[in-house]
Parts: sequence; structure tokens; C-alpha cells
Amino acid sequence: MHQENKTAKRTLVVETPSETRCLGKLLGEQLKGGEVILLAGSLGAGKTTMVQGIAAGLGIQEHVKSPSFVLERIYRGRLVLHHFDFYRLTQEDILESGLLYDIDDSAVVAIEWPERAGEALPDSTLKVNIGFHEECLDSRPVKSENKCRITLETSEARWVEVIETIWRHRNENG
Ligand SMILES: Nc1ncnc2c1ncn2[C@@H]1O[C@H](COP(=O)(O)OP(=O)(O)OP(=O)(O)O)[C@@H](O)[C@H]1O
Ligand SMILES: [Mg+2]
Repeated sequence: MHQENKTAKRTLVVETPSETRCLGKLLGEQLKGGEVILLAGSLGAGKTTMVQGIAAGLGIQEHVKSPSFVLERIYRGRLVLHHFDFYRLTQEDILESGLLYDIDDSAVVAIEWPERAGEALPDSTLKVNIGFHEECLDSRPVKSENKCRITLETSEARWVEVIETIWRHRNENG
């Protein structure tokens, strides 16, 4: 039987860091283990803030800090969370270090700066892109202080339902 390739892409605008954490929490609550989440966006866009929410959704009590210097931090909650930051690495570094090997199938992986990893990334992922939101002031685009545009995108059936659940929740709860 021909199976249709399902894809989903939704963009949400958030106005504060705690809204970003709430969105991450909603995502974290739906994780079952084995998921890989790629968080892209420029320096300071809010990737780690989003992972703090994901961790909360996994029942992790520990404060989630940026792993940019240590490359990886591991947290234990309802599931184990591996939090990576590849900012300082190349695809070669990532392949040679084996950082992404030997991760238990039941763990969740969140990767900041996934574009550094190129071919070293797994196939089945949720892509989260965090961008600054620009507003028009006197017909000129102005970067708004705390507003971000968060895009959730996938071509994996298992993630489509998660994205649609988040989308419905946001529309119902504002
Ligand atoms: N809507 C928002 N969502 C997330 N963070 C926000 C938002 N508005 C302001 N901020 C602030 O922006 C900063 C984002 O920092 P964060 O460490 O999450 O970014 P990052 O994308 O992980 O950066 P890096 O590329 O250095 O890892 C925090 O200080 C946070 O409080
Ligand atoms: Mg970060």
C-alpha cells in the first residue's frame, strides 16, 4: 500500500522567555523516548531556554544550563535527556568523537547548532527554528525585544501529531 509522506510545519510567535519554556514543556510532556530534537537559531535566540522547557516536560528538576563549553549535559527525569551544543564543533569532530553514538534508544536528544553536524545527524528528527521577530515601525523593520518566531517542522509521521497537538493547544489556550 502506498503510504503518504506526512509533513508538518507550524510557526508560533512567543513574547517572553517563559512562553518559550511553556512551549518546550508542552513538547517535553509528549516525548516517549528515542526522539531527536534539533534546535537552530542564531546566538542567544532562545534554544537553551526552549530545552529548559523540554526538560520540565520530562520531569527534570535540575536547572538546565547551556552545554556550549562542555558539549553535552545529561539530565534524568521521566526519561534521560542528552543536551548537546555543537557550536564549537565540525562534522568531523562530531563523527570522530562518537558523541552521538551509544545513546540509549529510550533517551531524548536535544541538539543546539545542529547545522554544524551535517551528515552526522540522525534522519528522524523534529526541527525547531527560533528566530527573532521583527516588527514594522514607521515602515521600517525593528527587532522586537522578547518576541521570537518558533517554527516546528518535520517530515516524520511520529512528529506530525506532536506538532499538531502543540498547535491546537496554543490556539485553544492563547
Ligand atoms: N521569547 C524568548 N524566548 C527565549 N528567550 C528569550 C526570549 N526573550 C528573551 N529571551 C532571552 O534571550 C536569552 C536566550 O538565551 P539562550 O541561552 O536560551 O539562547 P541560545 O539560543 O541557547 O544561545 P546560544 O546560541 O548562545 O546557545 C535569554 O537570556 C532569555 O531570557
Ligand atoms: Mg544555548
